[in-house]
Amino acid sequence: MEHLSTEHFRMTESNIDSEALERAADIIAGGGLVAFPTETVYGLGGNAFDPMAAKRIYEAKGRPQDNPLIVHIADSDALSEIAEGLSPKIEALTEKFWPGPLTIILPKKDCVPGETTGGLQTVAVRCPRNRIARELIKKSGCPIAAPSANRSGRPSTTKYSHVVEDLDGRVDAIIDGGDAKIGLESTIVDVTGEIPAVLRPGYITVDELREVLGDVWMDSPVENIGGLDFLKEPKDEEQEAHPKAPGMKYRHYAPKGKLYLVQGAEGDVVRYINKLADAARQEGHTVGVCATTDTKDRYRFGIVLDMGQSTNEEQMAAALYDTFRQFDTLGADIIYAEYVGGKRLGDALHNRLQKAAFGMLYAPRPMQSSRRRRIIFVEGHGNARSAMASALFERLYEGSDLEVLSRGIVVQFPEPMNQKTEAVMVSNGLSVEGFVSKQLKDSEIEQDTMLFAMEEAQRKRIIARFPSATEKNTYLLSSYVGDELEIMDPYGGNLQTYGICFEVIRSSVQKLSDKILEEKTYG
Ligand code: TXA
Ligand code: MG
Repeated sequence: MEHLSTEHFRMTESNIDSEALERAADIIAGGGLVAFPTETVYGLGGNAFDPMAAKRIYEAKGRPQDNPLIVHIADSDALSEIAEGLSPKIEALTEKFWPGPLTIILPKKDCVPGETTGGLQTVAVRCPRNRIARELIKKSGCPIAAPSANRSGRPSTTKYSHVVEDLDGRVDAIIDGGDAKIGLESTIVDVTGEIPAVLRPGYITVDELREVLGDVWMDSPVENIGGLDFLKEPKDEEQEAHPKAPGMKYRHYAPKGKLYLVQGAEGDVVRYINKLADAARQEGHTVGVCATTDTKDRYRFGIVLDMGQSTNEEQMAAALYDTFRQFDTLGADIIYAEYVGGKRLGDALHNRLQKAAFGMLYAPRPMQSSRRRRIIFVEGHGNARSAMASALFERLYEGSDLEVLSRGIVVQFPEPMNQKTEAVMVSNGLSVEGFVSKQLKDSEIEQDTMLFAMEEAQRKRIIARFPSATEKNTYLLSSYVGDELEIMDPYGGNLQTYGICFEVIRSSVQKLSDKILEEKTYG
């Protein structure tokens, strides 16, 4: 298409530049295209009543012309001008969720051209919450037809920079209104059938819709999962052109690299991704790992990007498309992503992840052996560093067949946990109940036992003192996991010293658990 010289405007919802908005509205009214912010993703807008504007939108996006557009209105009253079939239930729906991230499909009125609706007799309507969007619609004097403001096949745009990347030179103007708050496209509900149906999950949940509409169908969010695994990945162009799984043909919202979702318990997922990433790296791939704040430090290979706290689904949703685009920029050609979700946005996140993915992988569980292997953390008195290490290791290990002990080299009188150790552990959510320090006994060192000392001098003492402790089963924790420094005794230090010691132990123990479990999982 011809190159346009794109005008750029910048404003915030609380500080709208009315002159710039006036100019943008003139462009829409004159048949041009303006990319603008909404609370879900950026939209690529044109006059919804103008068949030529719809054609231009398809051209700018590089999208097939039969894909219908969402018509955006500034307030609920405008709905009756473009759609039929309104009812008290629909009014209740718009009352409750508009302005907001909900798109409603209704029979269209004649004033909406078939070019806008992709030839359908129905129209998708949404009243966005974003003030810039609504002011733009008002000033344009017409509803605005707008798909997401991305090139076809690419992730939707949630930042101004994404829009520039995809559409600069292809549209008449772009309004920079900051980052999209939600970051996933609106929920679409089709109310033209007997029972309303959610066609695309989003921020407004099915349960919320049911409160207003009663019965609501929910298409499985698992619409088109490829179900391929790593080994069955298509190898040549021929196969690419004739995909076997529908998920490949309709891959959507996707990064350029091949995305694999990995499902399972957190520890299993981390181990499996480490293994897959290492293998892919050795095959010459540029590997991406789509991680969370909680797991990112445990990945050892590839470009690791953090989507946010695994318990903060809104943060992850807002980051999803930007993360995909970062992988593109960094040249990742294969990406492993944790299958993140959550209570409110789980359906929407899973839907977008699955549409973007080539396949879903299940992380294997570690093998349970009949003989319990014993891990013993050892230090001088056995009531500080070894206590932290054993509690941390136990928490990481998720229902295992490992026995984890904390022991002292010399414990004349069993003592409770060191007070500062206890304070640090409690503030990190670890249980200290019933703890007393215990002397290591030679009989506790069996064939499958591994001993981990905190200092090299103590490791030597253990080997010298206990006949069953040898160079083969008694390790310095830090060097076993590839760290350089010993774990120093915090004794005599303040609470902060103990806190720092705890963090050092946490990091070593995390690596230790990954290492041991990897051996148990993959032999
Ligand atoms: O959050 C959003 O909805 C964003 C912002 C810009 O509002 N827009 C958006 O538009 O995601 P788009 O074009 O990327 O997705 C619109 C979806 C498509 O899957 C399309 O097939 C569906 O809505 N759609 C539109 N009109 C429809 C209709 N009459 N019947 C069924 N599906 C329709
Ligand atoms: Mg789209």
